[in-house]
Amino acid sequence: MQAYQISQFGLDYLQPVQIADPKPGPGEVLLRVRAASLNYRDLMMVRGHYDPKLRMPRIPLSDGAGEVVAIGDGVTRVRLGDRVAGLFARNWQDGAPSAQKIRGAMGGDIDGMLAEYVVLPENGVIHFPAHLTYEEASTLPCAALTAWNALFTASSVKAGDTVVIQGTGGVSIFALQFAKLAGARVLGTSSSDEKLSRAKKLGLDEGLNYKQHPDWATWVKENTGGEGAEVIVEVGGSGTFSESIKAVRMGGTIAQIGVLSGIEDKLSLVPILMRQIHIVGIHVGSRAMFTAMNRAIEVHKLKPVIDKVFPFAETVAAYRYLETAQHIGKVAIRL
Ligand SMILES: NC(=O)c1ccc[n+]([C@@H]2O[C@H](COP(=O)([O-])OP(=O)(O)OC[C@H]3O[C@@H](n4cnc5c(N)ncnc54)[C@H](OP(=O)(O)O)[C@@H]3O)[C@@H](O)[C@H]2O)c1
Repeated sequence: MQAYQISQFGLDYLQPVQIADPKPGPGEVLLRVRAASLNYRDLMMVRGHYDPKLRMPRIPLSDGAGEVVAIGDGVTRVRLGDRVAGLFARNWQDGAPSAQKIRGAMGGDIDGMLAEYVVLPENGVIHFPAHLTYEEASTLPCAALTAWNALFTASSVKAGDTVVIQGTGGVSIFALQFAKLAGARVLGTSSSDEKLSRAKKLGLDEGLNYKQHPDWATWVKENTGGEGAEVIVEVGGSGTFSESIKAVRMGGTIAQIGVLSGIEDKLSLVPILMRQIHIVGIHVGSRAMFTAMNRAIEVHKLKPVIDKVFPFAETVAAYRYLETAQHIGKVAIRL
């Protein structure tokens, strides 16, 4: 079969290879991968910015969906022909996270989805709603689940709440869609006015260009009667965290997800305690959260937002497209 591997860091070293077809053992399923989707993590992984000790050669990329084409002995969860997505962290089935549960993440600790076939334990796959294409389903395991966790586990967004999203990438656009399902109002920042108008067509209530207005917390306050937002979906990292502290309301939640602008920040701790802010670190989510998310996607017939689909042969171009940050929502690869 064909796969992509990296044998050293850098997009130039992400190369197609021919390797033996994998075979499922007891309790495992063989997936014919039909689509994969890119997360910023996948780019960091290949560049060597995510895990400098990554074992190589490695098949990268965490998120994919496909068809079950063979099953090993003892498999009861899926049948031949089932349409499933992989789990990002197969060991986190439910309950609170632990070091053991978040070990074994796809496209990092273990090989990922950039292959025509992958073998996964039956606990490592999940059915997805029938109205979704393989490309759409491939966007769920990391980006969608992270946004879901931020809004409904790390916080509990309700109708009438205000949620702030930062930028218009995969996690943020899912957060927009899920927050709208819950009846919340969504304020969003972006580097681009054009992206903001596209996000408004997806339900964004108000938008602000953070390049022109890096002090966007003032704008959030103005748009919330001076109170601040109930939830901030924080993907910016060190460049945005101080603003998030100012923009969140008293007793509100900052769901700390991303580090797009850097990983270290100097900040004053006083507002965190005086304003009783909840800061919750998010690491994707569990299978139980995925199941809950699928129910909501099914009921509302929600469609993930895919900016562009690349053929498998143009996988490197897909990574380069994500790198330029021209997209809104997700970038997918069709196999
Ligand atoms: N903790 C977790 O479990 C978890 C899970 C998924 C993702 N993440 C992290 O979350 C972040 C986003 O991931 P993603 O896959 O959604 O990325 P993505 O699809 O590549 O989106 C990136 C977008 O973020 C916006 N952006 C870039 N720098 C920004 C800044 N300084 N302030 C505000 N927005 C900025 C840009 O949108 P505009 O052009 O519209 O500004 C850019 O297009 C990454 O750091 C990723 O590693 C963490």
